[in-house]
Amino acid sequence: MTDRLTLRRPDDWHLHLRDGEMLKGVLPGTTAHFARAIVMPNLVPPVVTAADAVAYRERIMAALPEGARFEPLMTLYLTEQTDPDDVERAFRDGIATAVKLYPAGATTNSASGVRDMTAVRPVLERMADIGMPLCMHGEVTNADVDIFDREAVFIEKVLHPLKRQLPELKVVMEHVTTADAVEYVRDHPKRLAATITTHHLIINRNNILAGGIRPHYYCLPVAKREKHRVALVEAAVSGDGRFFLGTDSAPHTDPAKLQPCGCAGVYSAPVTMSCLAEVFDVAGKLQELERFASLNGPRFYGLPANDETITMVKGEPLDLPKSVETGEGPVTIFDPGFPLHWRVEDS
Ligand code: DOR
Ligand code: ZN
Repeated sequence: MTDRLTLRRPDDWHLHLRDGEMLKGVLPGTTAHFARAIVMPNLVPPVVTAADAVAYRERIMAALPEGARFEPLMTLYLTEQTDPDDVERAFRDGIATAVKLYPAGATTNSASGVRDMTAVRPVLERMADIGMPLCMHGEVTNADVDIFDREAVFIEKVLHPLKRQLPELKVVMEHVTTADAVEYVRDHPKRLAATITTHHLIINRNNILAGGIRPHYYCLPVAKREKHRVALVEAAVSGDGRFFLGTDSAPHTDPAKLQPCGCAGVYSAPVTMSCLAEVFDVAGKLQELERFASLNGPRFYGLPANDETITMVKGEPLDLPKSVETGEGPVTIFDPGFPLHWRVEDS
């Protein structure tokens, strides 16, 4: 039985770090295991320009725990006013790694997002020219589209037309939740990849709704049927380079989650490596964890894999913290609903 696993230090290709006291509270949960992360720009106000990204990066660096080695890879929040020249400068100067597209109204702090794809066409064309990736929140927002269908409709109505018009544009379909998305990414390999979250590998919609409502499992895109979760696990453990880890770890305080209209987001960063090792182990695919968490992402983004390694050790069920105290209030940590046996050995 394998009980030790050494892999390149992982990266998180989709992370919400927030700002202020929350940033300080959640950073250690990421820097303990991850070398780099693609940092989402959906602050209030959002991180739109190169100057915004420089300032946010400085706040992140100032909030790092003592001795932490961590590189935030910044993203710009795409708006209909975004200036292609500013985006190009941010990319060429190494200020921003990617641009994030939120359809307006799709999720937390997405009000400044995109309503009309033709309005952002000049920015997307420039990104295709310079090789800058676009990270997409892949859900339509039309009130008449059922929330469980919004990803599949997005592929048909937005992603597919975009990939036909601008095949050179590098696109990451973020936090895929459906077999439809997995199949689409597999069938359209050119400059297209997908991130998969920790929680979407573990929960289905019954976990949110059956036998009582569990707000800590509510996120966007919302978890789907079991057959979709199974398709995500298959993609993640397959070793296919187009699928890699983006936790979408998205902290909200318990009071913000536990109310009649609670926020979307699952805070998973501190337990992600333990959860993933369990999922890959149960699937008999531990040997593929490094590809998913540490190799496929950098290859798609054109970056080197990390030189450092981490070692994971299997033992008795872990007694992990249930929540983290931040200066803004307690944040509940993702509970996979089964015992976790793998821990990251202190380095
Ligand atoms: O559940 C989510 N929470 N999905 C998102 O797309 C945004 C995130 C957040 O920022 O809280
Ligand atoms: Zn997100």
